[in-house]
Amino acid sequence: MSTQPSIENISTILVIGAGTMGRQIAMTAALAGYSTIIQDISEDGLEAARTELEEWAAGRVGKGKLEQSAATSALAALSYSTDLDTAAAHADYIIEAATERLDIKTAIFEKLGVLAPAHAILATNSSTLGSSKVAQVTGRPAQVCNMHFFNPALVMKCVEVVRHESTSDATVEITMELARRLGKEPVLINREIPGFIANRLMGAIQKEALYLADAGIASIDDIDTTARTALGHPMGPFALMDMVGLDVIDFIAQATYAETGLEEDAPNPGIAALVAEGKLGRKTGAGFYNYN
Ligand code: CAA
Repeated sequence: MSTQPSIENISTILVIGAGTMGRQIAMTAALAGYSTIIQDISEDGLEAARTELEEWAAGRVGKGKLEQSAATSALAALSYSTDLDTAAAHADYIIEAATERLDIKTAIFEKLGVLAPAHAILATNSSTLGSSKVAQVTGRPAQVCNMHFFNPALVMKCVEVVRHESTSDATVEITMELARRLGKEPVLINREIPGFIANRLMGAIQKEALYLADAGIASIDDIDTTARTALGHPMGPFALMDMVGLDVIDFIAQATYAETGLEEDAPNPGIAALVAEGKLGRKTGAGFYNYN
């Protein structure tokens, strides 16, 4: 096989991390016909991903939205592993969706640089860490970029492809084309900026929503209703923050603030307080709303 990256060389995709994003990105790839490995250090995490994806596929078939044969093929195209070394050695394209911590991502990308085939592109799904932060340790910075999916990744069409200073045109083109082959509509971000496009737009709305609620101008319910009924948003900003996870929202704010130092980017104390109480949104049964 050529040592140059090429879209035609991609038959096996490795997704690192079996969390909310990783498992749905992997299923998206499997549905598009790619042999897909989900790797995670946690056996329990892999089992939870397998259960959710099998239930999701059964639900889609039950609803008449997916052929049984397509569901069976996609589930058969997925494999689950705790062994990063072996998985990386077999991958033609790698999407890292592990914990949003630079030390963890750096260790992973350092390994990938050694283990992945020379033609493999190494992408991160990170919404906060530009790939320039991990590119050099791979020894192949031209083949590193962000490929950022949105929650729920099986549904949302957008993929933000973010290049850093040394990302090659070939890496960008292949990643954009791969996103299209996964049924997505990629957009290109030419220069790293905290939040890329979507989280900057979402952040601006959230900031205003939090201001209106904190100042007692309207209830969170009425603010969410207004976003839906006046602006046609599928869900209001508070419901969306609960869906994304308040820990993730807080982390994005912290990472952005650390990078910009601007007071307007400072994390919201109300959200930090909810996180400290363990109220992370839907996944814990409570956040801005109660889900029990
Ligand atoms: N996983 C997989 N599929 C899901 C899903 C999930 N968690 N939640 C909903 N769906 C599917 C449903 O199965 C349904 O599919 P069909 O119509 O084909 O049957 C479809 O989505 C619509 O679902 P519902 O009818 O239950 O509800 P809805 O119409 O309100 O849609 C929604 C749900 C798709 C989540 C919609 O509310 C929406 O688009 N919300 C905004 C989501 C958003 O903004 N995401 C970006 C978050 S930011 C981010 O991810 C980036 C980051 O870095 C933090």
